[in-house]
Amino acid sequence: MSKPIIFSGIQPTGRKHLGNYIGAIRQYVEGQDRGDPAIFCIVDLHAISVAYDPVELRERIYDTAAILLAAGLDPERCILFRQSDVRAHTELTWLLSSVTAHGDLNRMHQFKEKVGKDRDLASAALFYYPVLMAADVLAYRATEVPVGDDQRQHVELMREIARRFNERFGETLVVPELLVPKVGARIMDLQEPERKMSTTGGTQNGTVLVLEEPDAIRKKFGSAVTDSEREIVRREDKPGVTNLIDILAVARGSDQAEVESEFEGAGYGDFKKAVAEAVVEYLAPVREGYAELRPDEAELERVFAAGAEKARKLADPVVAEVRERMGFGRTSL
Ligand code: AMP
Ligand code: TRP
Repeated sequence: MSKPIIFSGIQPTGRKHLGNYIGAIRQYVEGQDRGDPAIFCIVDLHAISVAYDPVELRERIYDTAAILLAAGLDPERCILFRQSDVRAHTELTWLLSSVTAHGDLNRMHQFKEKVGKDRDLASAALFYYPVLMAADVLAYRATEVPVGDDQRQHVELMREIARRFNERFGETLVVPELLVPKVGARIMDLQEPERKMSTTGGTQNGTVLVLEEPDAIRKKFGSAVTDSEREIVRREDKPGVTNLIDILAVARGSDQAEVESEFEGAGYGDFKKAVAEAVVEYLAPVREGYAELRPDEAELERVFAAGAEKARKLADPVVAEVRERMGFGRTSL
């Protein structure tokens, strides 16, 4: 069987959290040996869909690149680049918008969440966000998209866009598959385990950052909300404990059942301590690698330049074919 073409994108912030790491970044690292190629993109064009500061943006892009490299992405084994360096993404966004239903964009959960109360003040970019995301993936004819559970609807939409394009203009684009991890696709906030961990929508104490100091991590797990029982099992009515079991299973590289049997009869206090220690150990190499890599911006720029060159070689011919199919320029078809 041929290898998958893997594509994923990540927003540029220095405040990546444990949910991003477990739900997405961990899958990228694993994907670079399975994928041919595996392509990872820091989506700075998506970042301008909400209020932002240009000087900050540039810094956060370096932060994100350093986190990804520290996590184990190897520019020799994958393509790592900055979205705005490859013009194909913006051009394809416009072209694909002609086969994207306005109603579908209106139904996107993330749009509804981010748009808030004042719909009129939200940018058009926020509305177009899923079309750009579709262009990101379809420009490479990617077959797999590793993401966390919250991106499910966006991936479903890009599949629909690819199908509609092919129906209207002839077989051109590949309909990609969603890839969410079996454990940890949705890591929950430690304080409010009914909602997902998030730097924008979650609580500060319930969100563990990838670059956080070990003692801060211990504190956050120490105060994690559980329940009034003392059973360490995964169950729908025990979201706090279930979340901690998932986190421990991933951090240790074991599975959920193993964690449950190991902690059978143990108290919540000891259990939380064990989770904290496992996470501290799990994230330590990333934090250390980050401290080493982040200062060398010239080197990060070299990684971006090499990555963008490879990305353009893949995306440009696809966009050229899309243009031709759609009736632009002279035809050789
Ligand atoms: P973002 O920082 O929004 O670009 O998200 C990067 C990746 O992390 C995406 O694939 C998300 O689906 C994933 N992700 C975000 N929050 C969580 C979470 N709480 N649990 C698991 N995955 C997440
Ligand atoms: N929307 C994704 C998120 O918020 C980021 C993203 C942009 C992405 N383009 C993508 C993910 C392409 C997968 C594929 O997490």
